[in-house]
Amino acid sequence: MGGARRRLMAGAMAVVAVALMATAAEGYISKETWAAIGRANRHGPFVGLVVPNAFEMVPVLNSPKFVASKTVPNLDVQGRRFRFGSIGGQNVVMVMTGLSMLNAGLTTQMLLSLFRVKGIVHWGIAGNANEDLQIGDVTIPEYWAHLSLWNWQRYGDGKDNELPLEAAGDYTREFGFLNFSDYTVGQGNPELSANELNSVWYQPEEIFPSSGVPEERQHAFWVRASERYYALAARLEGMELPRCVNGTTTTTTTCLPRAPRVARVSRGCSGNVFVDNARYRQFLRAKFGCTAIEMESAAVALVAYQQGVPFITIRSLSDLAGGGSALGNEASMFIGIAAQNAVDIMLEFVPLLKDDVGGH
Ligand SMILES: *[C@@H]1O[C@H](CO)[C@@H](O)[C@H](O)[C@H]1NC(C)=O
Ligand SMILES: *[C@@H]1O[C@H](CO)[C@@H](O)[C@H](O)[C@H]1NC(C)=O
Repeated sequence: MGGARRRLMAGAMAVVAVALMATAAEGYISKETWAAIGRANRHGPFVGLVVPNAFEMVPVLNSPKFVASKTVPNLDVQGRRFRFGSIGGQNVVMVMTGLSMLNAGLTTQMLLSLFRVKGIVHWGIAGNANEDLQIGDVTIPEYWAHLSLWNWQRYGDGKDNELPLEAAGDYTREFGFLNFSDYTVGQGNPELSANELNSVWYQPEEIFPSSGVPEERQHAFWVRASERYYALAARLEGMELPRCVNGTTTTTTTCLPRAPRVARVSRGCSGNVFVDNARYRQFLRAKFGCTAIEMESAAVALVAYQQGVPFITIRSLSDLAGGGSALGNEASMFIGIAAQNAVDIMLEFVPLLKDDVGGH
């Protein structure tokens, strides 16, 4: 009995040990993979193409403007696939991040650490917080902020109360707050509308630029897109895209009230939050001036900025976040046209970088 039990235990421990070894080994990049990375880099410098999801990448793979590399079409590293090719004569390496800030940040860092990348172009769909624009419009924001890093203030405290660890420089009241009691349904009586959730204060990111001193933090809230790329993007501004798209699986055609167009805008806002809430959308517009609201760009921006690599984001609007427009909530209906529009503009933009040498 005891023997059988011991054998079982030993067996279980061996399984655990193998699992641990396998986990540890996968954290390293093998010699073979490093060699493949070296071979791929002979075709650099690349423009790094960073895309959140498959539905925003597949139209690129299907476009005749994307010519896949014949020598190294793709390379898989640590669960990510890096795809090589060219667009309008500019060599590119494309990687899909997956949803949200952690995925976007770590994938962008991998891209920049492994490959010779002279600049990053990021694209995808976004919610819209700017009622002057329409679904399908393609926005190119000049600044990005991450808006889901918060210091959540205790009930009873207000504007004049220092936040925990504010004195240590960890948190700040510089960028403002959202007070939940301002959103109580049927306001009027301040006692009844007081809200124990009180307020959240928006925080800048702690960053460690490669040009700085390691472990010496800096802070960043608004991160600017490359001024050079942003200036180049002016050439696409006003460009009109098809008003109607054919459905992929059915014979239905979806048409917008007017032809979508490309617009450079001031601000884009990211967070680990899918916003389908009109009041929060209006708050983001009023407080931070957000147009595109989505879940990856600020992470890409923060990594690119810290590594001194120029970046730009192209985001098409798929829905008025939280609805309230004549078009209702729309993301599922317009996701196809929006994704295609972002891809079309990315495919126009990348060839403009052919003669760009990189750097800031
Ligand atoms: C937020 O509202 C509460 C009442 O719910 C109030 O006591 C508090 O001072 C407000 N906080 C700020 C930062 O204005
Ligand atoms: C949509 O379908 C119509 C008719 O089948 C065709 O004429 C048109 O070119 C298609 N539009 C697009 C954007 O593919």
